[in-house]
Amino acid sequence: MHSAPTSAPTWDPQQYLRHSTLRTRPFLDLLARIPELPATAAGRPARIADIGCGPGNVTALLADRWPDARITGFDVSPEMLEQAEKHHAGTTHGGGWLDFRPADAAHWKPDEPYDLIVSNAALQWVPGHPESFPEWIAGLAPGGTLAFQVPGNFVSPSHALLGELCDTPRWRERLGGRGRQFVHVLSPAEYLDRLAALGCDAEAWETTYSQLMHGPDPVLDWVKGTALRPVLTALDGDDEAVAAFVTEYRDLLRRAYPAGPHGTVFPFRRVFAVARRRD
Ligand SMILES: C[S@@+](CC[C@H](N)C(=O)[O-])C[C@H]1O[C@@H](n2cnc3c(N)ncnc32)[C@H](O)[C@@H]1O
Repeated sequence: MHSAPTSAPTWDPQQYLRHSTLRTRPFLDLLARIPELPATAAGRPARIADIGCGPGNVTALLADRWPDARITGFDVSPEMLEQAEKHHAGTTHGGGWLDFRPADAAHWKPDEPYDLIVSNAALQWVPGHPESFPEWIAGLAPGGTLAFQVPGNFVSPSHALLGELCDTPRWRERLGGRGRQFVHVLSPAEYLDRLAALGCDAEAWETTYSQLMHGPDPVLDWVKGTALRPVLTALDGDDEAVAAFVTEYRDLLRRAYPAGPHGTVFPFRRVFAVARRRD
């Protein structure tokens, strides 16, 4: 008999990065809404934290906008941190620096005043993350910003089918609940309410990206880098079970997202919030 492991999922940076162009677009949209940082106004390098930085490619984009900033990416995954360290750590082109440190967002607290705390596609993995907002906002320099983006597509077929399959009699014992491991997101209005209640100038919104994807089973390939991680981690070492599960799931996805003449359209809703602490 197999028991469901309780550990965090194992990440695969290479698989995750296979769709980096589409995955980066929402971060650029978030970045565009972040106001001037207090450090910039004061003529000093900005201090920035990226929570759940993953492989660091998105963290590095912060240095394009704030070239002399001191930027730290935090993550729980040793695989992601190794990738980030290897490819992005060090001095930036504007004389700032990037470094990466292990930290669990569920317990992370700002240990110095930050001009910007940012998080992209990570807080959905952190149950209760809105409970950290008061400490994170308090950890901002006056005029600093908390900005994040989380997927909001957990009722879409890609995720609903995964949850349902994990809970079928064949898989329930080993995978029950695994497909719904990261549904800890609020609506834009709820985020707005929480952040405004903390005295911030806040905005929140949602965007559904109609992503045109190419190649065979592109939606399966996408979720192999994210939503499927808990399942693949739970079945790790049992290649037969992995193959059987992935085949069942692939067939469901093929029906839900049929290939069209120009590719496969994979709609993806995302939720954004930007909160500026008042001076
Ligand atoms: C979908 S990836 C996003 C990575 C990156 N921010 C990006 O936009 O490309 C989610 C990341 O969140 C990290 N993560 C999940 N739970 C976390 C936690 N409790 N604390 C810190 N990082 C966490 C994972 O390790 C993973 O690197």
